[in-house]
Amino acid sequence: MEEASTSTDDQVVFSITKDTTLGPEGYKLSVGKEGVHISASTGAGLFYGVQSLFQLVPSSAVIGLPYVDINDQPRFSWRGLHLDVGRHFFPASFIKKYIDVMAHYKLNTFHWHLTEDQGWRIEIKKYPKLQEVAAFRKETIVGHARKEPHVYDGTRHGGFYTQDEIREVVAYAAERHVTVVPEIEMPGHARAALAAYPYLGCTGGPYEVATTWGVFNEVFCAGKETTYQFLQDVVDEVVPLFPSTYIHIGGDECPKDNWKKCPLCQKRMKTEKLKDEHELQSYFIQRMEKYINSKGKKIIGWDEILEGGLAPNAAVMSWRGEEGGIAAAQQNHDVVMTPTKWLYLDYYQDTTSKTEPLAIGGFVPVSKVYSYDPLPAQLTPEQARHILGTQANVWSEYMPTSDQVEYMVYPRAIALSEVAWSSKESKNYDDFIKRLNGNRKLLDSWKVNYAKHVFAKE
Ligand code: ACM
Ligand code: ZN
Repeated sequence: MEEASTSTDDQVVFSITKDTTLGPEGYKLSVGKEGVHISASTGAGLFYGVQSLFQLVPSSAVIGLPYVDINDQPRFSWRGLHLDVGRHFFPASFIKKYIDVMAHYKLNTFHWHLTEDQGWRIEIKKYPKLQEVAAFRKETIVGHARKEPHVYDGTRHGGFYTQDEIREVVAYAAERHVTVVPEIEMPGHARAALAAYPYLGCTGGPYEVATTWGVFNEVFCAGKETTYQFLQDVVDEVVPLFPSTYIHIGGDECPKDNWKKCPLCQKRMKTEKLKDEHELQSYFIQRMEKYINSKGKKIIGWDEILEGGLAPNAAVMSWRGEEGGIAAAQQNHDVVMTPTKWLYLDYYQDTTSKTEPLAIGGFVPVSKVYSYDPLPAQLTPEQARHILGTQANVWSEYMPTSDQVEYMVYPRAIALSEVAWSSKESKNYDDFIKRLNGNRKLLDSWKVNYAKHVFAKE
């Protein structure tokens, strides 16, 4: 690999090494008299070396690189960023941009939340009404859903990704070493699907695609065989589109009111000897897990899937706090930490300014994201190995445009990137903010509409 014939220091040399100490995503980056040398044992490692090189390039017109010797690999293998495209639909072109930026910051898992009460966004050829009915709502609430009386905009909203578009996005992501994990919500957050196929609900409807935000009682009926048949058919079309190990099955926020009143749900509980509706939800998830496992995939679900008993091979996404993740790891299940308090990017970045755009609530400034440690202290080293990593979630109720999504995501997702990649010891918030400043030109050049709260104080 020695390039004796060239004495110039403006060359960039890439090499794949057998050095497995770098891990599947690590790299070595050296800048010296002989130019730039990036080595890794995988393509992903080389890719991350290049991203670090970009970070070294000064934003001034004079190009010159500091001499460095970096030996780097990630702390966690799941470095996730989520996007809810159910509450608001964003075109595939924006999804690609979203993936571009996250990949630069070494985030490697895009959690694509594809089905919601307010819209079903993935084409399922066997069920055309998902495209005709479930993908659109007649109007959208204006202002905060907590504010009464509700006012609506009178404008139809919606859309869906064709399977061709999904394949294109997944391939685009793979080129950037990003895995796309699809989420098909069950048994809750199902109103859009029920509007299209009312037989999937306990009462048979009629149902309407939701036009406001919240948690709704209209969920998939856990008693009817036809519900499972529908969801299995959906899984049959979803699995070939996504090479990811995991399919996210949701599992959060499923009110049990209708199940309590539904003769078929109650009959199912009796025949399956389930003592309450939580066990019925557990039966539902376990049954779908079995099916998804039979297709060669694993399931991951929100931490409510612990209630009534965890499905045998399920991974847990801990969102209501860290407790669900801790309990799951203690039961030897894999975990991704996404607690609201640190990692919900739909929360406010500023609670004092009158000009801050409407958000769902909460307060998660950049410093809060940066301060997060995904490894809870009470886990034993053996249990801690089940923490696959961490992820920030981006629920789009109050993000009607892609510009607003970017405003909420950046720069907080860059803080997440450091939480997920860097060792705990190497973190330093002041230094991070300095480096963040250096990233503004890059973000500007990509036309990312990042928020500027942390810069205003400088
Ligand atoms: C969630 O935020 N409902 C997972
Ligand atoms: Zn039912």
